[in-house]
Amino acid sequence: MSKILVTGGTGYIGSHTVVELQNAGYTPVVIDNLVNSNAGVLNQIEKITGVKPEAHHFDLCDEPKVTQFVTENPDIAGVIHFAAYKAVGESVQQPLRYYHNNFFSLINLLNAYAGRPVNFVFSSSCTVYGQPDQLPVTEAAPVRKAESPYGNTKQVSEEILSETAAAFSNYNVISLRYFNPVGAHERALIGELPLGVPQNLVPFITQSAIGKRGPITVFGDDYNTPDGSAIRDYIHVVDLAKAHVAAIRLLENGNPNGNFDVFNVGTGRGYSVLEVIAAFEEATGVKLDYQIGPRRAGDVEQVWGDVSKSTKELGWKAELGIAEMMQSAWRWEQYLKDNPLNG
Ligand code: WQD
Repeated sequence: MSKILVTGGTGYIGSHTVVELQNAGYTPVVIDNLVNSNAGVLNQIEKITGVKPEAHHFDLCDEPKVTQFVTENPDIAGVIHFAAYKAVGESVQQPLRYYHNNFFSLINLLNAYAGRPVNFVFSSSCTVYGQPDQLPVTEAAPVRKAESPYGNTKQVSEEILSETAAAFSNYNVISLRYFNPVGAHERALIGELPLGVPQNLVPFITQSAIGKRGPITVFGDDYNTPDGSAIRDYIHVVDLAKAHVAAIRLLENGNPNGNFDVFNVGTGRGYSVLEVIAAFEEATGVKLDYQIGPRRAGDVEQVWGDVSKSTKELGWKAELGIAEMMQSAWRWEQYLKDNPLNG
């Protein structure tokens, strides 16, 4: 079966996608510099699928290495490009580090494929919409000025990809705009490994529940939403991983929409922060401590995705609900307590 390069394949979404590619009969090949992940994840993948993926550890900012890899691996039929820095707050502190890493890795990969046909799937984010005027937000909604250098790297990377695809027909690109990925594989052998204090809601919830952190702070209860807390479209990481397999398949079959396309990847339904807290308690039977705090700078009030285009044209739909998201995230946190993969 065809080989798919997965950059950032030991990361959170990357590792789940490697598993789903293997389940679908593909041979994923990983490139990861391990700056924000752990080579032990490859053994965890092997425990799930029975196959340890081939992996190469180098930095995609190293242009000669990228060119050499692509030249030496002409049988790679597709690329799923996850490798990037992704912390919103950190990107505000270190904009150049973010721009350097996220742009050079993408440009080096695209340059290495100059003149060769390549199916290319890019990790984008619903952050490109900012606060949409209409909900659920469709792919046709305008892209709003990013609130952070991280968000800007996603917007500009989409532009780099669409302009490159317009100029050169060998690039067949799909950009997947993720809503909020949460949860872990059902076997709880892979999951998110946040560095330091988690900035994202669900890892904070699970760490608080296990006693690693104090009470959760709900960032704002004065939004114009039914319970006053902010609303997001949480998507199970395994469903998200499957969307990448669907994107590769669509590119292999020839995307009738042309050689650059974007898809929302969410469930199509929003949950408020308070609803997520309640869903965690209900799904796990574990009580959470929380307090209400001020709004977090840069947060939008509410966003959830219109997923009709993905359902129809990508042939993909989320199958797992909020209970599975919370249960799997909690099982993973408990697994990590006894198996500290993050050191
Ligand atoms: C969700 C909601 C918070 C923590 C970010 C990036 C996005 C993507 C995913 C990825 C918000 C609230 C959070 C807490 C809280 N990036 N919250 N207390 O901000 O929607 O998306 O992560 O790589 O591009 O912007 O996700 O999980 O941080 O927050 O109340 O301790 O939970 O204010 O309303 P967000 P999140």
